[in-house]
Amino acid sequence: MPAVDVKILKYAIVGSGMMGLEHIRNLIEMPNTQIIAVCDPHTPSLEKARRALNRVEGVRYFVNYKDLLANCQADVVVIATPNHTHMEIAEEVMRTGKHVLIEKPLCTTVSDCKKLIELQTDAQSENQVVWVGLEYRYMAPTRRVLQEIGRGAVGSVKMISIREHRYPFLEKVEDWNRFNVNTGGTLVEKCCHFFDLMCLIANSRPVSVIASGSQDVNHLNEKYDGKTPDILDNAFVIVNFENGVRGLLDLCMFAEASKNEQEICVVGDAGKIEAMISESIVRVGRRKDGYGSFQEYAIEIDQNIVKGFHHGASYVEHIQFQHAVHNNFQAEVGLLDGLLSVAIGQAAHLSIDEKRLVQMSEVLS
Ligand SMILES: NC(=O)c1ccc[n+]([C@@H]2O[C@H](COP(=O)([O-])OP(=O)(O)OC[C@H]3O[C@@H](n4cnc5c(N)ncnc54)[C@H](O)[C@@H]3O)[C@@H](O)[C@H]2O)c1
Repeated sequence: MPAVDVKILKYAIVGSGMMGLEHIRNLIEMPNTQIIAVCDPHTPSLEKARRALNRVEGVRYFVNYKDLLANCQADVVVIATPNHTHMEIAEEVMRTGKHVLIEKPLCTTVSDCKKLIELQTDAQSENQVVWVGLEYRYMAPTRRVLQEIGRGAVGSVKMISIREHRYPFLEKVEDWNRFNVNTGGTLVEKCCHFFDLMCLIANSRPVSVIASGSQDVNHLNEKYDGKTPDILDNAFVIVNFENGVRGLLDLCMFAEASKNEQEICVVGDAGKIEAMISESIVRVGRRKDGYGSFQEYAIEIDQNIVKGFHHGASYVEHIQFQHAVHNNFQAEVGLLDGLLSVAIGQAAHLSIDEKRLVQMSEVLS
């Protein structure tokens, strides 16, 4: 067979902190991929990128993303900057027509997410892949859960519960993640991943949200310019979907003494599936097989693709992204997914603040 000519994709990375470096490490390993530019105003972050790319020739380094956009011929721009900067940078990148991968959360508010959606429609950018970095979909145990549900292993899905019990938020450059105004709030910043998974598994639109949560343990003794962080560290969130499926998020960020950071459990009328993400185990039980019966599967992860915190999921995300670019497909994780995952988080925060059930229409309209 004649060799297929695959275009080399040239990448620019905006923001080379923790997540930007994970993207760089992934992209260095990928075929037909070239990083040509990196931008970060924080010298230590830019130096880390230089070190990670020391064997890659011809990379240009910038401190201002506008200079990067004006001076490099990238095909793809990856935005891995703090959440509150996504809107402005994404808007400018989208106007260039380049493909773009925007880290999660898409933006810190529903209204900013909607502005980007309007921009995409206005630009009629059918040939532009605009992708949101909700890569928990691509963790190997999560993918197995999605496959099993797709092939009917649990029947008609009724309940989804996702537990994240983990360590507190890590320290970030200039401590941007200590304040809701920068992150969108914990249930947007962190939990957009889980709300995205719920929407995907429920295969339906969220209609209402009720939540309880607060900041009880973490960061209470920290001060930044005299201010104490205001980010919530534990919550229960219930999401009701149009088709009757209900989802529950159980978040605790002072629970590092746990075997699994995330556990996903989906129950349908014919059975139950659960994934233990850290242990990389999936269990599937069918009601017809009787009480207590289930199959347990160890899910293998190719360690060669693990370049950061996400069990290889960000590598798979790039493979899928490139597949969309090369085949002129729509983004598998697009702006609408980004919007809905932020909107559920925003509704959950509103529910906590006002101690009531919140209709999704209140935050979406
Ligand atoms: N997908 C995931 O699972 C995942 C995991 C962690 C973080 N994130 C997201 O990635 C983004 C970055 O988070 P992080 O953990 O890398 O934070 P970080 O603080 O480690 O890095 C952010 C970097 O962006 C730089 N920056 C700030 N403003 C900039 C600008 N205008 N132009 C260029 N660079 C700029 C900072 O100097 C810093 O180096 C956030 O949106 C975060 O929510 C996603």
